[in-house]
Amino acid sequence: MTNAVSWWGAVLALHILGAVIWVGGMFFAILVLRPSLGTVDPAPRIALLGQIFRKFFRYVWHVIPIMIVTGYAMVFGRFGGFRGVGWTVHAMQGLGWIMTFVFLAVVFGPYPKFRAAIQPAKAGQHVETMRRLIAANLVLGLVTIVVAALGSI
Ligand code: HEM
Repeated sequence: MTNAVSWWGAVLALHILGAVIWVGGMFFAILVLRPSLGTVDPAPRIALLGQIFRKFFRYVWHVIPIMIVTGYAMVFGRFGGFRGVGWTVHAMQGLGWIMTFVFLAVVFGPYPKFRAAIQPAKAGQHVETMRRLIAANLVLGLVTIVVAALGSI
């Protein structure tokens, strides 16, 4: 054990911060924000959701490339490629790609339809589709974190 702070520690920290922001944001959205929005009337609720999605997705657009780059930097720079990593890192990258595709399915699927909808009832239908996909991604994200931790000790 050495007291020196390694650059790989900083790369791992960046990677973990990405997971915290992405998965933590989805946790808050699904389990805290959504159940609390019932108190708001439909029209302002849709307007508020529009702002929330826009801001959160902007963060996720930045987080995903950072996680992918830091993840593969560690695989190839620190562990010498796929042969040097265990099943947990293989599972992590598979789950990470699935999460990325689910995110893309949200931002190119129901999200533009939600933005284009004029009536709150129509917009609400697209929000429900987004909620399901984001809830699925939340479960995947939590599982990925558990898998990542299992490989670390
Ligand atoms: C392309 C996708 C990904 C790759 C290639 C990748 C790769 C890696 C690697 C190589 C490590 C270091 C393992 C070690 O030090 O033993 C790591 C750690 C970690 N990853 Fe990923 N990862 C990916 C996606 C994700 C995603 C999507 C999440 C969470 C949602 C995640 C969460 C974590 C966490 C929490 C750690 C810290 C585990 C620990 O060392 O205690 N990763 N990842």
